[in-house]
Amino acid sequence: MDKFELLARNALFKLDAETAHGLAIGSLKFSYATGLLPGHSNRQYPELAVKIAGLEFPNPVGIAAGFDKNGEVPDALLKVGFGFAEVGTVTPNAQSGNPRPRIFRLVDEQAIINRLGFNNQGHSVVIDNLRSRKREDVSNGIVGINIGANKNSADFITDYEMGIRKFWDLANYFTINISSPNTPGLRDLQADKSLGELLGRIDSIREELIAGTDKSPPLFLKIAPDLNEENLIGISDNIRSSSIDGLVVCNTTVSRSALAIQNTEPGGLSGRPLFNRSTIVLAKMRQLVGPDLPIIGAGGIDSIQSAWEKLEAGASLLQLYTGMVYQGLGIAKTICQGLSEKLAASQYSTITELTGTRIREWAARDLPVQ
Ligand SMILES: Cc1cc2nc3c(=O)[nH]c(=O)nc-3n(C[C@H](O)[C@H](O)[C@H](O)COP(=O)(O)O)c2cc1C
Repeated sequence: MDKFELLARNALFKLDAETAHGLAIGSLKFSYATGLLPGHSNRQYPELAVKIAGLEFPNPVGIAAGFDKNGEVPDALLKVGFGFAEVGTVTPNAQSGNPRPRIFRLVDEQAIINRLGFNNQGHSVVIDNLRSRKREDVSNGIVGINIGANKNSADFITDYEMGIRKFWDLANYFTINISSPNTPGLRDLQADKSLGELLGRIDSIREELIAGTDKSPPLFLKIAPDLNEENLIGISDNIRSSSIDGLVVCNTTVSRSALAIQNTEPGGLSGRPLFNRSTIVLAKMRQLVGPDLPIIGAGGIDSIQSAWEKLEAGASLLQLYTGMVYQGLGIAKTICQGLSEKLAASQYSTITELTGTRIREWAARDLPVQ
């Protein structure tokens, strides 16, 4: 982090976490629109490019869902060096989420607990935001849409169908988020029978949309880290019999077992204490689905080393959020530069070659206790 960034971060940390987040979005929006945002090409290192699910990612470091919930700053995030940006979670109707305060920084642990509850402006506002992107930005950057369900929805699955239909023309890829701990009942969709129904209905709507347009954005399923081996087998079986193109492993955890200082705030824990759990789940899932299914690895990536290890454990691509809160906007650039240097000093020449080289070691570890 340079001096200016450090000053800015220290000032933001004096504010409550949600106010700081609002300011960060506002200043990214302003500095991007006025041309003041310093850019770092996200294509600087050709050896970091990854081709999966029909898309060419200029580098493997993406910004995870939750930072840009309303699609206000995807191009600013790409400009500071992220290889792809995920907007959302977006629900059909706007909703305010849980009462504040609902984001808590655990500075000593480099972690966050959040119980936002899908606060977002709903499909139509996010569609307008994305439609206002410059044409050259749209053709250059990979922007995924993470879709979810409204808390008071009578049928969660219908909300996902609506999301796919509404964003079909705008999304480079979709993430079906069934793993937020902050919408009661949502994670039950990961259970065998419900997941079968969800994926069946998604397959049908997809067939219909592919037939009517020339687009076919890939669909990824985002899962929780709080699953046991049996759950993981159930999910991989369901994936195999569906048209899902990949997985995002994983969302925040409800477990507090990795915290050195206990914290009983309800919500999802992210950041450094999530790294071990999420990487074990990733490797186990990689073993179950085989080498070809794309997996985006998320959870506790905040350094070159943690990014490297996540790739070794089986991630085809990476996403981070909490690491950026603590390390600043330059984190994507720093990790890309570091990955490039580490590749040059290794026996691997591309990210794809590195992916999955230490799956067995990670997968052999026991899932941490809840
Ligand atoms: C404040 C906050 C809000 C989040 N909101 C969402 C969300 O809306 N949808 C989602 O799929 N994940 C959301 N996440 C989870 C992240 O996308 C990511 O999966 C998780 O934080 C693990 O990555 P990290 O340790 O790098 O933060 C959120 C995370 C944080 C910290």
